[in-house]
Amino acid sequence: MINVQNITKTYKGKKTLQKVSLEIEGIYGLLGPNGAGKTTLMRVLAGLISVDEGKIIVENDDLHSTDLKTIRNGIGYLPQDFDLYPKATVYDCLNHIALLKGIADSQLRKERITTVLEQVNLVDAKKQKVSKLSGGMRKRLGIAQVFLTNPSILIIDEPTSGLDILERIRFRNLLRELSKDKTIIISSHIVEDVEFLCTKLGIIKEGSVLAEGTPEEIAKSSDGFVWSIQIHENELSETFKLYTVIDIQQRGFNILDVRVLSKNKPSNATPLNATLIDGYLSIINGWR
Ligand SMILES: Nc1ncnc2c1ncn2[C@@H]1O[C@H](COP(=O)(O)OP(=O)(O)OP(=O)(O)O)[C@@H](O)[C@H]1O
Ligand SMILES: [Mg+2]
Repeated sequence: MINVQNITKTYKGKKTLQKVSLEIEGIYGLLGPNGAGKTTLMRVLAGLISVDEGKIIVENDDLHSTDLKTIRNGIGYLPQDFDLYPKATVYDCLNHIALLKGIADSQLRKERITTVLEQVNLVDAKKQKVSKLSGGMRKRLGIAQVFLTNPSILIIDEPTSGLDILERIRFRNLLRELSKDKTIIISSHIVEDVEFLCTKLGIIKEGSVLAEGTPEEIAKSSDGFVWSIQIHENELSETFKLYTVIDIQQRGFNILDVRVLSKNKPSNATPLNATLIDGYLSIINGWR
């Protein structure tokens, strides 16, 4: 359990994080629009930047926000944009990073590299050049290098960005497997990525936490706000003005079924069951 208490961070007079408090456990998803402060919060958690106020308590150790070195130990962080050595092979890349991480004993280094390559399923690619890897393989190599020191907490910023659907599913499964004995924190603005992976979510917007709960609890936030309306094609732009449009299906010639979010029942609307994306958007809209 990572207990984040009242973290405030200011960049050039602008509050990027405002009294952020979270109880992080299991596979935790930070969900929020661009610029919400997800990366900033992750960098704070990874001990890379200091905060103005607040503290982070990891498990039973009281780690104060100024105690960057202590926080950093035991936490693996994979940044949103990370660079690896493009000209090196997968194995040499990991060997080099292991050396940088202070694994000086060559036998131990070899063992750790073998273990992490198996964990992320890159054994067959160990002689391949990093520059020749697919996006998904590169992400897995990113995880592998974080795992060299076997951290108990893993922070991954936007784990599935840039991956195609199959790679995304594969990567999700990898994270699920790895989460058995670890706390994993991921950030995303792709709701379906966190829906099937995360046990708990925190919704963040403009530096503030708007909600925290299980995916089911977050979905429930839109109970009573989700509707299906039938409109003529000509009414589409008006519909966008009136409601948050979630989905549009062609019903017949010129007729559309539109899934919308609205606090009040639109005329002739049929209520629909709430999904995570509905709940997320209701929270972002400030309705809950
Ligand atoms: N080093 C910095 N100096 C000044 N402002 C910064 C710095 N880092 C982040 N910010 C600002 O803080 C806010 C939050 O940025 P952050 O990168 O944490 O958002 P994010 O939720 O990760 O967004 P995205 O989904 O685009 O990755 C933004 O307004 C950004 O411009
Ligand atoms: Mg970010």
